[in-house]
Amino acid sequence: MEFKHKSVLLDEVIEGLDIKPDGIYVDGTLGGGGHSLEICKRLSDKGRLIGIDQDRKAIEAATLRLKDHIDKVTIVKSNYENIEKILKDLDIDKVDGILLDLGVSSYQLDNRERGFSYLEDSKLDMRMDTDSTKTAKDIVNEYSEMELFRMIRDYSEDRFAKNIAKHIVNERKIKEIETTFELKEIIYHAIPLKVRKTDSHPEKRTFQAIRIELNRELDVLENSIDKMIDLLNDKGRLNIITFHSLEDRIVKVRFKKNENPCTCPPDFPVCVCGNVSKGKVITRKPILPSDEELKENSRSKSAKLRIFEKHVKE
Ligand SMILES: C[S@@+](CC[C@H](N)C(=O)[O-])C[C@H]1O[C@@H](n2cnc3c(N)ncnc32)[C@H](O)[C@@H]1O
Repeated sequence: MEFKHKSVLLDEVIEGLDIKPDGIYVDGTLGGGGHSLEICKRLSDKGRLIGIDQDRKAIEAATLRLKDHIDKVTIVKSNYENIEKILKDLDIDKVDGILLDLGVSSYQLDNRERGFSYLEDSKLDMRMDTDSTKTAKDIVNEYSEMELFRMIRDYSEDRFAKNIAKHIVNERKIKEIETTFELKEIIYHAIPLKVRKTDSHPEKRTFQAIRIELNRELDVLENSIDKMIDLLNDKGRLNIITFHSLEDRIVKVRFKKNENPCTCPPDFPVCVCGNVSKGKVITRKPILPSDEELKENSRSKSAKLRIFEKHVKE
């Protein structure tokens, strides 16, 4: 299957990274290499790009896509949460820009065997890293009712989380839940009829919750932002594209904390906590796709780009 993926907010990211031709850049979610290719085109022979992805198929696709720039590209199969170690192993101390374009690629979503899509019948899988052993099937069949409830409530904000968890647990007593369509059917029956009439895909939110849980998406993001800012050179920029409100909230809060980490009570005349700002949020409001992009690429619909610029105090 061909690796098809249209890069989201491409021009905005390239402008947002403010690329220096001799700089070092990290793409933490390489995917098909769409953003990376445009970064490479702007780098001189001295510039460098480190591309990270946890999906072998993405690594293969990006290696091919970036073949004309191979001298300045290093591709690493890993989780971006390991960025410190990855850079240390490459003898890189600081970088000039980092990009995260979160979530799944169209390739992962459209490839039936990967089990991400509620529109295709397949084995329940949803692993971004197919070398890991735990799958969506393990979560659905092994989590307790309380764990399922909390996961669906917290990662999808679905108001029927409790009932969905109950239905899953009841059904798996009869038979192990193995496929996306079996799960879809169970969720469908846990939703009131009048909601089903207006919501054509009520299973969508639970599928998202399972994917986030399995791939630890929010924890990985939350744990990585501060490290990434620390790894930037002066004026280096961290660009993050999110696709749902849970991710966007994390980015917004962590960026703000890095801009203003002071914990002193507001009525203190001077700061005594000693926490120093690491830079500035460039995007007061997130950058959204243009009407043109929205028309051309439905995946861009919920995309939001936020940018942080590092400032090193002398
Ligand atoms: C939306 S796609 C990126 C598309 C890419 N920007 C492009 O233009 O082709 C997201 C990619 O990030 C990868 N990914 C998601 N979370 C990751 C993580 N924590 N560590 C490494 N890769 C991750 C996924 O496997 C997927 O290939």
